Amino acid sequence: MTDDAIKQVAEEYRRQTPASRRHWEQASEFITGGYSSVGSVGPYPTFITRANGPYLYDADGRRIVDFMCGSMGLPLGHNHPKVRAAMRRQLQNGMFYTMSSVYETRLAELIVGRVPSVEKVRFAANGSEATMFALRLARAHTGRGKIGKMEGGYHGNYDTVWLGLGSNYLREPGKAPAGLQPGVEESVVSLQFNRIDQCEKAIEEHKDDLAAVIVEPVLGGGGCIPPAPGFLEFLRDITTRHGIVLIFDEMISLAIGKGGAQGYYGVIPDLTTAGKSAGGGMPMAFFGGREELMQLTAAGPDGERPVVNHVATYAAHPLAMVAGAAALEAMTDETYEYLHELGDLVRGELRSLFARLEVPMQVTGVGHLFCYHWSEHEIRDWAGVNAARADITGALGMAMLNRGYYARGRGIVSAAHKPSHVRGLVKAMEQCLLELDLAPSGG
Ligand SMILES: Cc1ncc(COP(=O)(O)O)c(C=O)c1O
Repeated sequence: MTDDAIKQVAEEYRRQTPASRRHWEQASEFITGGYSSVGSVGPYPTFITRANGPYLYDADGRRIVDFMCGSMGLPLGHNHPKVRAAMRRQLQNGMFYTMSSVYETRLAELIVGRVPSVEKVRFAANGSEATMFALRLARAHTGRGKIGKMEGGYHGNYDTVWLGLGSNYLREPGKAPAGLQPGVEESVVSLQFNRIDQCEKAIEEHKDDLAAVIVEPVLGGGGCIPPAPGFLEFLRDITTRHGIVLIFDEMISLAIGKGGAQGYYGVIPDLTTAGKSAGGGMPMAFFGGREELMQLTAAGPDGERPVVNHVATYAAHPLAMVAGAAALEAMTDETYEYLHELGDLVRGELRSLFARLEVPMQVTGVGHLFCYHWSEHEIRDWAGVNAARADITGALGMAMLNRGYYARGRGIVSAAHKPSHVRGLVKAMEQCLLELDLAPSGG
């Protein structure tokens, strides 16, 4: 990949997006960096005006086939008619009430009915809040202070879980991120996903201090890596033996099956956190699990304060509750089946393309999730993801966007995508590999 080729791709992006550039310049007068959302790709962000089904539409009038789908959280695609109708109905009833709403129970019932570990649930406003309270519950329950966290595992934006992330989060690689509470590193035990030996050693060493091990059962943002056979079972076993609370963070993986990744792989944690697909696109998340643990968040019979007081202004926002319930109801057995079929198609077609062009690219993922990495070696863990060339997948992301596909190295297929969208993505990938001189043989 030559610098010239990258420059040309950036130039083409600029040529296609003068309106986005104007929006960015205006926004930069008021917003640091010109945006607050997470999904920027080019020299400046693409500004979106609307989304429907598998498509985003931008300020320059371009239609983009969206494989990121709301930070991998919209397995039904954008603007699903049932979710929209539920929200439209709910809008007649006002925004939010401070007091309990009658709209919370249905979503809770759906979650408890589907996710095997969840006997009781509470709603949070976002994923960070949900994992933060799950960790707090684990500390309150065990009386211990440390948490075990996988390197490359993303659980939100607060100090404890902002460690062990990739270079995207670090100004100076190798140093702790700026601004964290001093000493926070001491409360985190670093674990390596799919490396049983390393996890065993670290957990045994800290077993008396560990309140929880938190893990995405499929490493999501960290490269869509499925668990190696026996890995989740190993975590279940060792945490049970040492009285450590096992938390599955299923923010992304929940949509792998009706019962999330835990149902799919048949390993049941003590607590689960999830959101995204369970909120139909609205800001929401939940934490839930064994009744004995969750009971710590309940007020006493005479109004005594709960042991762990879970409060948040926007928790269980009525609009999110009805959107989430409509979205989960629309996720039927057939939907999951279709997502797996389409997921197999995208992973299979990409693998065939990379083999045909003889480019050193690996494809990971399961269910609706897929990720491609520039690496000669099969990717099984975070070390593999970290060693892959993120600069190349970054350049490919921009080139793909120029051709109307948004995937950023990873993505999901949704129920709104058709096999033709997948074939279009693979075709665009082929053209981009050639354009960036990444497949000199031309297949
Ligand atoms: C697995 C996982 N956990 C937690 C979070 C944090 O969620 P939020 O951004 O809603 O705070 C994310 C967000 O991407 C996630 O992917």
